[in-house]
Amino acid sequence: MTLQATASGPLRGRIKVPGDKSISHRALILGGLAEGETRIEGLLEGDDVLATAAAVRALGAEVERTGEGAWRVRGGPWTSPEAPIDCGNSGTGARLLMGAVAGRPITATFTGDESLRSRPMKRVTGPLGEMGTRFEGGDRLPITVHGGGLGGIDFENATASAQVKSAILLAGLGSAADVIVREPRPSRDHSENMLAAFGCELTRDGGTVRLGAQRGLRGTDVVVPADPSSAAFPLVAGLIVRGSEVTVEGMLVNPLRAGLYETLIEMGADLRIENRRAVNGEAVADLTARASRLYGVTVPADRAPSMIDEYPILAVAAAFAEGETVMHGLGELRVKESDRLAAILAGLAACGVDARADGDTLVVTGGAPAGGGLVTTHGDHRIAMSFLMLGLAARDAATVDEPHMIATSFPGFVPLMQGLGARIA
Ligand code: S3P
Repeated sequence: MTLQATASGPLRGRIKVPGDKSISHRALILGGLAEGETRIEGLLEGDDVLATAAAVRALGAEVERTGEGAWRVRGGPWTSPEAPIDCGNSGTGARLLMGAVAGRPITATFTGDESLRSRPMKRVTGPLGEMGTRFEGGDRLPITVHGGGLGGIDFENATASAQVKSAILLAGLGSAADVIVREPRPSRDHSENMLAAFGCELTRDGGTVRLGAQRGLRGTDVVVPADPSSAAFPLVAGLIVRGSEVTVEGMLVNPLRAGLYETLIEMGADLRIENRRAVNGEAVADLTARASRLYGVTVPADRAPSMIDEYPILAVAAAFAEGETVMHGLGELRVKESDRLAAILAGLAACGVDARADGDTLVVTGGAPAGGGLVTTHGDHRIAMSFLMLGLAARDAATVDEPHMIATSFPGFVPLMQGLGARIA
């Protein structure tokens, strides 16, 4: 099956996009580790997060859906599951759960789909092994984790990675020793924010996080804001499709996730951020994108952690900008749900856009994309959604393969876009 997006517009409307994926995974895992009840509202019910819900249940917590996006989790002592835990397509689910299991005196085997089984895991098994976890397997899933009896760690990561940081912190909940993670610049801090809300002591200083003495978790209520990584697709479409005005309500605007929006504003985007408020310790706002003339910019490498999942859609915005957009520091894109650097280059080439990679730098020459291509997504949801957005504003339609993978992070994406006026079929 394929999906095709055809020149559309104008796109108009106020929409809500699903809950943040990173926060949704964490709410389920922390709820499962906590004493007492956790009620979650606005949980992303995409395949990635549903795999984490099933995993937390298999590990011994009560996990129950009580309504649309409404879930109740009752933590309990974790037990060794009989069957392997299948994290599907989700690197976040796998890496965070491996950390959480490492901190408990249990054994669990982790696996996933073909994409997840090809992604590197040494980045978490390395530090967790240093803390005393024993593993069976190598750098790739399936891997068996033998948890419990952990010591401490003072871990310095060369690249900022919230997944690695979170795996270590979650494992550290089961240790009484010093647990410190140092990053060159802070990665997304949802684990820290939520651990604090669940009653865990921790301190932060720039890119350094240190667990305190009080590490027990108490269940609490979590409201999940709209995912800025999902909102990026309709908002960029609002910028590139002539005459459009699209508003996304209640979007997470945590500065450690806002790199795309900062970049689009530098490119000349008419992007308004209104009604700023705090929800559960996270900053939230309504964002409105109006069709804009965009100009190429240089995006520095140190911005990458705050927009790591947004380069495919930024590359599409860049294809419509005047001049060159230069994006530095993209090495991590090679080990995401697909080799995203290669997938972006191939997709842009298929749609008649000039782009090149020079080491970890991507350069896109903007203009008026011809479109017309069949884009191979390599099973990557964000590649699929990005190139559909390109098709809405290009001369000829853009077609993507494996569109079912969009459900990993953005269920309801196609009808939501159609409701704005997008021609996708
Ligand atoms: C995530 C962290 C990022 C991001 C992923 C979600 C998280 O990965 O790409 O989609 O929820 O912690 P890295 O930690 O590998 O950068």
